[in-house]
Amino acid sequence: MKKKNLVVIGTQWGDEGKGKIVDLLTEYASVVVRFQGGHNAGHTVIVGDKQTVLHLLPSGILHDQVLCVIGNGVVLSPDALLKEIDEVEAQGVSIGDRLKISSACQLILPYHVALDQAREGAKGDAKIGTTGRGIGPAYEDKVARRGVRLGELLNLDTVAERLREVMDYHNFVLQGYFHQPVLDYQQVLDGLAQRAPVLLSMMADVPSLLQQKMKDGASILFEGAQGSLLDIDHGTYPFVTSSNTAAGAAAIGTGIGPGDLGHILGITKAYTTRVGSGPFPTELFDEIGEHLGRVGAEFGATTGRARRCGWFDAVAMRRVCDLNGVDGLCITKLDVLDGLDSIKIAVAYKGCEELGGAVVGSDQYSQVEPVYEEMPGWHGNTSGVTDYDLLPANARAYIERLSEILGAPVDMISTGPERTETIILKKPFTD
Ligand code: IMP
Repeated sequence: MKKKNLVVIGTQWGDEGKGKIVDLLTEYASVVVRFQGGHNAGHTVIVGDKQTVLHLLPSGILHDQVLCVIGNGVVLSPDALLKEIDEVEAQGVSIGDRLKISSACQLILPYHVALDQAREGAKGDAKIGTTGRGIGPAYEDKVARRGVRLGELLNLDTVAERLREVMDYHNFVLQGYFHQPVLDYQQVLDGLAQRAPVLLSMMADVPSLLQQKMKDGASILFEGAQGSLLDIDHGTYPFVTSSNTAAGAAAIGTGIGPGDLGHILGITKAYTTRVGSGPFPTELFDEIGEHLGRVGAEFGATTGRARRCGWFDAVAMRRVCDLNGVDGLCITKLDVLDGLDSIKIAVAYKGCEELGGAVVGSDQYSQVEPVYEEMPGWHGNTSGVTDYDLLPANARAYIERLSEILGAPVDMISTGPERTETIILKKPFTD
């Protein structure tokens, strides 16, 4: 049966190229929804000679017929949101009333950023390597039931009261524990009050909005941020982000039933990268790792940090396909492998065979040693190829081997940063 909706998720440690794919598939959707994370994401979209890096706005924003929605699972920085809206509008994109934000979104406030940075600073070498945007502390406040939600801005008196209590607590920690300057209560409150009218003008009851859209026959695209190995529960804890990044979060993070999610498209690079600290079994420290970083321009879109690079890890990916119920794969950055003599795929781990894929994200994960299968590389060019049959034979063999090991079909292959540089084997909304 044809599925109406589509969930696009990253299957590694983020930066798989989701922005480009969401932007491309938005042509077939009328609603694009973010369901977790915040402005820690960095989705680079290149159209013609214009590059746009989106952090918080759904990547569908560049298509003017599309309604963009930020679901309750997202932590929302008012400053980052308004700045990004200004930047995108300055590029000629009209947002108008195309952006709707859940009243249940938790707000990221200045003390969350201060806490994130103070904590990372105090940890020294043991730091997580967060983006320093306040994501973790905002999710902590949500679970501690002391966060401020967008809908509460309707009653600023109540917010003022709670903010005083919450800031007393956080300022105590900032000053007493981290020896950092405190934040000024009045300044934070005034900042919120000043931004409240514009934020409230975008507020919506997202669960009802999405139900109505589905009744009207709309196709909805759920846009994941980060990747499954950064999932707070299933990732490489504690070196993870603070949200559930796996596909199931698209239901909880927007307020629709899991049965309505539709096709799950897992985006994966043809190799692996990671930013920040934490285990990475297939990481390369040699000239091939350097080649992947240089040719793949592997620098974080949010922080500019160099990404760590390594071979494709099929053990972790098999686990991730199961965690997400992946229906199809999109393999990105195939062209970065052009010119390599041989290519390796991790197909097992040594030293923890009894754990199989369950080792991924466990305490033993930092000790595993990958067992590689080696395949011949290709010297032809895959860059910009749009027809599968025109790929070099060894490139096709590599793709087919990945699909075979993972037990998942390949729906799409990305061969360059432009929308057009894509091989589409199956159009998720229409085939
Ligand atoms: P946080 O999400 O800022 O708390 O950072 C936690 C971890 O997730 C760090 O290792 C970050 O580098 C990583 N991270 C967060 N967002 C992204 C992303 O969009 N791409 C890749 N890594 C990310």
